[in-house]
Amino acid sequence: MNERTRYAVVTGGTKGIGRAICQKLASEGMHVAVCARNQADLATLESELAELEISVLTRVADVSRKQEVLDFVKEITDRWPRIDLLVNNAGVFIPGAILEEEEGRLEQMIETNLYSAYHLTRALMPALLKSPMAHIFNICSIASQIAYPNGGSYTISKFALLGLTKALRAELLDKNVRVTAVLPGATWSHSWKGVDLPEDRLMKAQDVADVVLATYNLSPSAVVEEIILRPQLGDL
Ligand SMILES: NC(=O)c1ccc[n+]([C@@H]2O[C@H](COP(=O)([O-])OP(=O)(O)OC[C@H]3O[C@@H](n4cnc5c(N)ncnc54)[C@H](OP(=O)(O)O)[C@@H]3O)[C@@H](O)[C@H]2O)c1
Repeated sequence: MNERTRYAVVTGGTKGIGRAICQKLASEGMHVAVCARNQADLATLESELAELEISVLTRVADVSRKQEVLDFVKEITDRWPRIDLLVNNAGVFIPGAILEEEEGRLEQMIETNLYSAYHLTRALMPALLKSPMAHIFNICSIASQIAYPNGGSYTISKFALLGLTKALRAELLDKNVRVTAVLPGATWSHSWKGVDLPEDRLMKAQDVADVVLATYNLSPSAVVEEIILRPQLGDL
């Protein structure tokens, strides 16, 4: 294995932003490990990436379940010598107001959007510390900064994910691991399917992927701590 080869892990890499990030990193020659819950989607992604001369590792895992996160890590670390990029992307958005939403919504979004990143980052840390250029990207949201109506538990989970990102940044500052919070606004993805808006009203998932790669490619002495991306016409 070449010292210049890069190994990336992306959660929720079969659709939307995660998929665009996988495709971008793979097109740069990086090996990618991807998880999602749907096996057929993982198989489709794997066959698309097979054209590139990289190694693709896919695994069905529900990242809201700690054991499935740990099993994903075991498979990666059994096969790969280190990890250079970790993108904690998998997330779920279920609209609802705190006082009206169904019982259990907060737990569901905290488990998927926050605990997933906490457990995966901790478990992968030994592999990240072996990298000459390690970088963690947490895909937060504009909802990590601004509360909006009908975004109750999602907002709570994304504020917390930004908190996790800031804490990691402070802890890893002298350990040669860069940490970046990505806060996208409305971006075309599966979550927006069926919404009747002009195509250019929302950002493209590729825009987020382009920024992730450009940020990774800065020299190791610089880190972009927070990236805020919005549609040109502002929030929806
Ligand atoms: N799109 C936006 O406007 C927007 C704005 C700000 C922030 N974000 C954030 O960006 C991230 C990606 O969003 P997106 O809009 O691209 O989502 P998406 O199109 O709905 O795709 C979500 C991806 O995550 C996977 N996933 C969902 N729950 C999972 C779980 N429990 N375990 C493992 N994989 C899971 C999905 O695959 P399976 O369903 O097969 O598991 C899919 O690959 C999320 O964290 C989201 O909060 C999105």
